[in-house]
Amino acid sequence: MNELENQRTIEPGGLSPTAIKQCCAAVYDSDAIKLLLGDSLHPGGTELTERLGRMLNLEPRNRVLDVAAGRGTSALTLATRFGCEVIGLDYSRRNIEAAKRDASERGLSKTVTFYCGDAERLPFADGSFDAIVCECALCTFPNKQSAAAEFARVLRLGGRIGLSDLTRQGSLPPELESLVAWIACVADAQPLAEYAALLASAGLKIMATEEHNDALIDFVNQVRTRLLVTEVMLGLNKVALPGLDIAIVKDFTRTALNAIRAGRLGYAILTAARG
Ligand SMILES: C[S@@+](CC[C@H](N)C(=O)[O-])C[C@H]1O[C@@H](n2cnc3c(N)ncnc32)[C@H](O)[C@@H]1O
Repeated sequence: MNELENQRTIEPGGLSPTAIKQCCAAVYDSDAIKLLLGDSLHPGGTELTERLGRMLNLEPRNRVLDVAAGRGTSALTLATRFGCEVIGLDYSRRNIEAAKRDASERGLSKTVTFYCGDAERLPFADGSFDAIVCECALCTFPNKQSAAAEFARVLRLGGRIGLSDLTRQGSLPPELESLVAWIACVADAQPLAEYAALLASAGLKIMATEEHNDALIDFVNQVRTRLLVTEVMLGLNKVALPGLDIAIVKDFTRTALNAIRAGRLGYAILTAARG
């Protein structure tokens, strides 16, 4: 671990970057999040993942990296749909173990492999991928510049990257600036133009952007519907939601929905290429 990085504290709550990554990984590999979100941990689900794959022109001979792959749902979807080889990387060891099990059960262990690691320090050689996808995760990385530089480094010349992520415009209510909000991809979400500038500053050329705000509304509504069951399961100690209070999550979804309707929060896809 880089000691300097670990000592630098950032909002929210004065947590170190490493603590934020650990917290995010612990929430997203919890059983409660599986109940709330299902297997695909981003707005638009596998449908939007396939859209991203089409925008990147994925083909069977491509070697694709899924950064912050969660439980591996997108990696398995891309391999099945486009016939490409996919390597998924996530900070959570539990998510990686679940992803490996799923790949094995579906007979895809040879074409889809998973590693535990940090998006800000990718354990792969320069120019080793034809394409990268990173869904609903860049917004949670404390050092987005490092991650963008790593994306550019591991892409081959002419390689493409597809991001899908939360976007924000202007200021948000204080509830949407908390640790819960950071983990829920909201507090450090950027305007779409900022994501584009981030990738451009890493030497990547922007190809296309698309807004998918409706997918975010559906996603938040789905969470609100599933909150009741999750609350019951939490009450019975059948599942745990580490470090998060379900009442805060409830309030959070209500405020988030208002912010989406007011045009302050959205969801977007952005593709770029290494020129
Ligand atoms: C919202 S989930 C998205 C997962 C997956 N991309 C999907 O859409 O299903 C965010 C994921 O980012 C992972 N993550 C957070 N910080 C990370 C980092 N620095 N490096 C790699 N993965 C990270 C978490 O463990 C979590 O699985």
